[in-house]
Amino acid sequence: MNRIAIIPGAGKALEIVSAEVHHPGLGEILVKNEAIAIQPLDAKMLLGGYSGAGSLGNYPTVLGTSGAGTVAVVGEGVSEFTVGDRVVFDTRALVKPETNDREGTWQRFVVVSSKTAAKIGNASFEQAVLVNFPLQTAVAALHLYLGMETPGKEQSEEKVLIWGAGGAVGSYAVQYAKSVGYTLTVTASVRDSARQARLGASAVVDYKAADTVEKLRKLGPYKYLFTASGDPTSQQALASLLPDGGRFASVLGGDVELPSNVERVYKPFSQAAQLDENHEWRDWWYKDYLPEVLHKNLIDSVSYTKVTGGLGALQQASTDVFEGKVRGKVIVNPQE
Ligand SMILES: NC(=O)c1ccc[n+]([C@@H]2O[C@H](COP(=O)([O-])OP(=O)(O)OC[C@H]3O[C@@H](n4cnc5c(N)ncnc54)[C@H](OP(=O)(O)O)[C@@H]3O)[C@@H](O)[C@H]2O)c1
Repeated sequence: MNRIAIIPGAGKALEIVSAEVHHPGLGEILVKNEAIAIQPLDAKMLLGGYSGAGSLGNYPTVLGTSGAGTVAVVGEGVSEFTVGDRVVFDTRALVKPETNDREGTWQRFVVVSSKTAAKIGNASFEQAVLVNFPLQTAVAALHLYLGMETPGKEQSEEKVLIWGAGGAVGSYAVQYAKSVGYTLTVTASVRDSARQARLGASAVVDYKAADTVEKLRKLGPYKYLFTASGDPTSQQALASLLPDGGRFASVLGGDVELPSNVERVYKPFSQAAQLDENHEWRDWWYKDYLPEVLHKNLIDSVSYTKVTGGLGALQQASTDVFEGKVRGKVIVNPQE
């Protein structure tokens, strides 16, 4: 029997319901879901009425686009997975909301396209789910949308600026850009300076200081700029570091006044692998890069708290994430 955390209607709290286990179709696998990491996006959609990443109009709705677990059933036409494989995955639950009853990952058994799953080797489910969603966000922003190279480039004197490197997306962006070969300047809080240096930052600037932008200007110029906090202050700061125009990527949009010669690249980076127009990038992500990262343990993942209570813990845990009460990610095992 499946158990699903549903949002029964707009603004309503989660309810945990029983349902038949789904059957995977052509090219799909059914995964026994053993780890969910609550993303800020999930918490905003559950509690903040946020719909910027996709509509929640088709209530009851099921949140969550990533998870990790064990293949339970293999659908027709799938040759690369067998029952028992340990995998990490993401789904179309947001880019195609009508699928979220089967593909929303806040449930015990999730239907997943075999195109958007990877075997995780000996990595733990927690490690896999901590990495996939925010790393995909960072790499899609830097590589797919801004055009940064893939890892292996020679060491470069050219510089990259990551604003808001303290979170999951930010600290993974730092590690990706470092692995490509760039010299990194980041903004982070003072308490995080030593970790940022360990992850590869050459210069760490306190984003709360009065002279942040002047310091960043002296450390530049930058070939790539990315705000992983996405707040208006960061967007305006990055724009001011592009006096001759240019572009930067941002995890958030919003109505922010920017100079006309500066382009803000704001996309649903976390869903990049779900868009068919990105099929080549998706294949690289799921067949090459992500498995390598997990098998070789190439990313220093953010800290996490594992809460007990299974799907029933998601409501309170989401509230804690929404209210900014937790550092790092909160992980839930839907099988509990
Ligand atoms: N567009 C997309 O596809 C996409 C995908 C994923 C995430 N996002 C969005 O990106 C944001 C970050 O996600 P995440 O998963 O990295 O969150 P997270 O891991 O929870 O990161 C939060 C951390 O970011 C730092 N931070 C918060 N506000 C900041 C600010 N104004 N300036 C600089 N740093 C700040 C803080 O660290 P310190 O206190 O140590 O500084 C905070 O602990 C969220 O708003 C999320 O919704 C967008």
